[in-house]
Amino acid sequence: MSTPTFTQDELKTLVGQAALQYVVPGEVVGVGTGSTVNKFIDALASMKDQIKGAVSSSVASTERLQALGIPVFDATEVQSLSVYIDGADEIDHQGHMVKGGGAALTREKIVAALSKKFVCIADESKLVDTLGAFPLPVEVIPMSSAQIIRQFAAMSGAGKVRMKDGQPLVTDNGQHIVDVTGLKITDPVAFEATVSQWPGVVTVGVFAYQKAQVCLLGTSAGVKTLEF
Ligand code: A5P
Repeated sequence: MSTPTFTQDELKTLVGQAALQYVVPGEVVGVGTGSTVNKFIDALASMKDQIKGAVSSSVASTERLQALGIPVFDATEVQSLSVYIDGADEIDHQGHMVKGGGAALTREKIVAALSKKFVCIADESKLVDTLGAFPLPVEVIPMSSAQIIRQFAAMSGAGKVRMKDGQPLVTDNGQHIVDVTGLKITDPVAFEATVSQWPGVVTVGVFAYQKAQVCLLGTSAGVKTLEF
């Protein structure tokens, strides 16, 4: 029997559709950001009449949800969510993640913190033994970026302000992103706790406190469910 092969885009579609099983009818669902989540949002349209709506982690996801007729609530309007569905740039075997490749990490962490269960949807290229190969995004208050880059240099990380069209990229929250390469994050909980305390850091892209409980991983053999 031959093994089915899927393109990366097909894997994203598969995991986006598989995530529907975690959506609780009659409730508001937490929705992340990125190309994998876009597939989930498209699939969610098929059950939009069964849910109250969504809380979104970015302007981009809000626009996509609304275009499909899915009501979007502000995070301040809900007390908690049963489930949050989002992608990741990296996920390890304990469910710790690096996120923020799409610059939405702050709102993602806020919605994740509101949620009882984080379901990560990702293709198998995202599964790693140790976080740090993907440049770590850190959202910062602009005046702190140079000092934060120096602090990462002291731990052998090379930080750079993310640029867009020749200017620092401005997030949905009006802040900048520093991307850090060269890190090996062997203790994600301690790392997140430390960096979160540096003055000027809005959000570090390590999700250890708000880690995933489930990962739907798109593999060449189909969707694999990892539970942490
Ligand atoms: C957005 O800021 C990120 O955290 C995304 O969740 C992450 O970059 C995954 O995006 P893709 O699904 O596009 O790979």
